[in-house]
Amino acid sequence: VTMSRRSLLTGLGVTAGATLTGIPPAAADAHRGHGEHRPLPRPPAGSSPAALARDERFWRRVAAQWRVTREVVNLENGYYGVMPEPVRRAYVANVDELNYRNTLYLRTEYGPNEEDIRAQVARAAGAATEEVALTRGATEALQNLIGGYNKIGPGDVALYADIDYPSMQFAMDWVGARRGAQVVKIETPDHPTRENVLDTYRRALAANPTTKLLLLTHLTHRTGFVPPVREIVAMARERGVDTVVDVAHSWAHLDFDVQDLGADFVGFNLHKWLCVPLGVGFLYIRRGRLADIDPDYATPGDPDDIRTRVHTGTTNIANVMTVPAAIAFHNQIGAANKAARLTYLRNYWVARARELPRIEIMTPDDNAAHGAMTSFRVRGADNAKIPALLKDRYRVWTVYPGGGPRGDCIRVTPTLYNSTDDLDVLVAALRRL
Ligand SMILES: Cc1ncc(COP(=O)(O)O)c(C=O)c1O
Repeated sequence: VTMSRRSLLTGLGVTAGATLTGIPPAAADAHRGHGEHRPLPRPPAGSSPAALARDERFWRRVAAQWRVTREVVNLENGYYGVMPEPVRRAYVANVDELNYRNTLYLRTEYGPNEEDIRAQVARAAGAATEEVALTRGATEALQNLIGGYNKIGPGDVALYADIDYPSMQFAMDWVGARRGAQVVKIETPDHPTRENVLDTYRRALAANPTTKLLLLTHLTHRTGFVPPVREIVAMARERGVDTVVDVAHSWAHLDFDVQDLGADFVGFNLHKWLCVPLGVGFLYIRRGRLADIDPDYATPGDPDDIRTRVHTGTTNIANVMTVPAAIAFHNQIGAANKAARLTYLRNYWVARARELPRIEIMTPDDNAAHGAMTSFRVRGADNAKIPALLKDRYRVWTVYPGGGPRGDCIRVTPTLYNSTDDLDVLVAALRRL
């Protein structure tokens, strides 16, 4: 790691006389090996999340749990959450076990094991087991909640906003086409704050009094903005409007559970911030609301069993078997400690970038309105070209989320394997842009 850090600094021209070429990716990637390493540290007793967030020694030991390439400083951890070593090892062992014991395991022990995993997931989310059904991700969870919602029809309105995830916007459009409801899309302010966004939803609900279903996104994917979801859900409920909340990007990232949202329908994934192998999520339907979501494709079975609301078929079971290892890893760090560290990392680079005259930060600084993810724009530049420039010239990996409102920006998402050193590399690159 030390060697690749040096190479990254070299790549930035920080070392006297160095060129901008850095070293070949293969050499930067030299620690790809999967040797033994030290166990995940326990947070020191009595340390507050805010104080621990600044403890670089502690977080260096946490970061060492990940074996990831240092070809780049990877600040694009919004796509999905790569597994730390204990989870990766559990996954490899589960793939091996499944291949070894195959249908004998699947037809005997897997059923009870899956039930135990579902219970662990429900507990981690603050839900009852019977309120949770596993899915392959947030898309499947949310499509089944939105598409299955049966209390909407002609004369009703399905409401969503420009900041929602495109696939979920499509699902809401589908509701209009198939159920004969009117679909209304809200425009959110260019410079969002919790207050002006709450006001936008208030006005939209008042302007559309026949709204039945509202889609909300807890942490938006282009800028990382976090709207005041709990307040909007409560406001909608007062008007008899049901809410589906998309927490694909927020769960195990921000410190909350399903009770904090107050919503009756929520779609989760486990492969972003919980770092479960790709392809696991779940849907939540509050007790007493099951009848308002249709069984998936008229799946037969007990209609009082939430598992009839998703029918995935045969899928990757090894990733589901790995969920307990990821929950244990997450719990040992602690949700509040993780959220505080992620916020700290975000604030570290944003405070420095705000001093640069051409950089516009798209995400408000109010700590309640963001997590790790934040986007910036370079004024007067072709922003679509900037991620490639950052990668090729400075070996900093980001993404241009593109499209939609405020899509002309670059998204930066550090995670627990990143350090403030990584963010110094980013800031140095931004200074030179
Ligand atoms: C806000 C939001 N919702 C939903 C999804 C889809 O999640 P999944 O990949 O679990 O289907 C994403 C994925 O990036 C997202 O950012």
